[in-house]
Amino acid sequence: MSVHSEIKKITTETLRKMKFDGEKISMLTAYDFTTAKMVDAGGVDAVLIGDSASNVMAGYETTLPITLDQMIYHTQCVVRGIDRALVVADLPFGTYQSNPEKALESAVRMMKEGGAHAIKIEGGKEIEESIRKIVNAGIPVMGHLGLTPQSIYQFGTYKVRAKEDAEAEKLLSDAKLLEELGCFGVVLEKIPAALAQKVSESLSIPTIGIGAGPHCDGQVLVYHDMVGMNQGFSPKFLRRYLDLYSEITGAVSQYVKDVKNADFPNNQESY
Ligand code: KIV
Repeated sequence: MSVHSEIKKITTETLRKMKFDGEKISMLTAYDFTTAKMVDAGGVDAVLIGDSASNVMAGYETTLPITLDQMIYHTQCVVRGIDRALVVADLPFGTYQSNPEKALESAVRMMKEGGAHAIKIEGGKEIEESIRKIVNAGIPVMGHLGLTPQSIYQFGTYKVRAKEDAEAEKLLSDAKLLEELGCFGVVLEKIPAALAQKVSESLSIPTIGIGAGPHCDGQVLVYHDMVGMNQGFSPKFLRRYLDLYSEITGAVSQYVKDVKNADFPNNQESY
């Protein structure tokens, strides 16, 4: 038997069982083949091709500009690097909100052309019919509630959401609706820890938090933030495991010096 076939792949069912067994779920973003290989080798349970690629990969200020074609390209790259993790891809802004047929078309393209194992979309009641249509086609859907960055121009700020009772109640009822509609999980972004706990305890599908405290069934971070490549982004919820910005700029500046001083390449590095 080859090593490849011995790897037990993570499925949406595995994540459900992890919640049931009380085992926390780890998720990270990846947008390219090389990073995907590293996060998979590190043992994450799920990899998210987030539309944060719009910020991190393309340098846009928001997640809105990235297109479905670009998200499909990033997903194809990631899928080639993954042996074990569940691969979830974001449907970008404007590809699922307007009508359920368009939503299904976008989700089918992401699965068929991108090779994703599941898709993620932002919102609750407002996109109910789109979720129903996608789930009915046999495509696993992950929801996303709280701070949903595709609505940034409606929110006007990236501050914590659902601090007030009315928004918290809507979020809880949206989360229950997502479960009823057949979503296999839901991301809770930047909401009070107590609310995330209440949501997590009310659902049988896993909640994956980002800035939503310790009671979620799992956690997700943007890879570039957790390895310290983004110096300018330091929200309270972020734990940096490396300072790669300093490491990489240091290595580059040493390389520049070595080239300028004719120290690189030396005889051993030449043919
Ligand atoms: O796009 C993204 O990276 C996300 C995570 C922050 C959850 O949606």
